[in-house]
Amino acid sequence: MPVNEKILTVIITIDGPAGTGKSTLAHTLASRLGLDFLDTGAMYRAAALIALELGINPTDGVALAAAIEQSKMHFDWHSDPPTLMLDARDVRDRIRDLDVSAIVSTVAAQPEVRAVLVRQQQRIARAHPRLITEGRDQGSIVFPDAPVRFFLEADMQVRVDRRAEQLRAAGKNVDPKQVVDDLQRRDRIDSQRTDGPLICPEGAIIISTGDRTVEQVVDEMESHIRRELPDAEFNV
Ligand code: DC
Repeated sequence: MPVNEKILTVIITIDGPAGTGKSTLAHTLASRLGLDFLDTGAMYRAAALIALELGINPTDGVALAAAIEQSKMHFDWHSDPPTLMLDARDVRDRIRDLDVSAIVSTVAAQPEVRAVLVRQQQRIARAHPRLITEGRDQGSIVFPDAPVRFFLEADMQVRVDRRAEQLRAAGKNVDPKQVVDDLQRRDRIDSQRTDGPLICPEGAIIISTGDRTVEQVVDEMESHIRRELPDAEFNV
């Protein structure tokens, strides 16, 4: 097939609970294949930060959705990975703090918030049609027609260790008990919400990330992608 007939639009989704390595894997895979990388959790975290800073109750979806629309939330695509911005402010570090993590699942359970962010994610995909996007609902709700959809799994202890390491690497204090509580609480809220709950999308490829290196898991994901999309053009 001539190059100009090769498939240039590629949307790949990666969903799964916190601490399964989604962001690292999605970013590594995107760099390897020459695709853009979208961290949708960062958008929900920024929405939680907006709630904290404006004193909006995390259950007030209507007020929050309006505040998100006003906030000029966007990614700076000049950096790699893209930086989450609220207007001109870089919030990439602030959104990882525990006070944000503590309320983000409640914020993400509000249907009005999800409606605004799902729309923004679909708009981003139109501007960046060669995209690896990760979150909780990317393969089920936001991009159900994506040609390759992954769901990641790992044991709780592996997830706790990974999240604690991320926090330490970011120079934050780590109380392992608090990390466990946070993951368990978020799992519960994320899986039980009625709108866009964390589920394994039907037909998704399930990947176990537990005791394997990033390289090993990325190799496996890449081979699935190349098998499913033999005509796709990567690294263009
Ligand atoms: O991946 P993360 O831990 O940064 O995600 C933060 C929170 O955002 C998580 O508790 C669930 C929520 N989230 C969501 O509801 N839908 C998404 N597509 C991505 C994240």
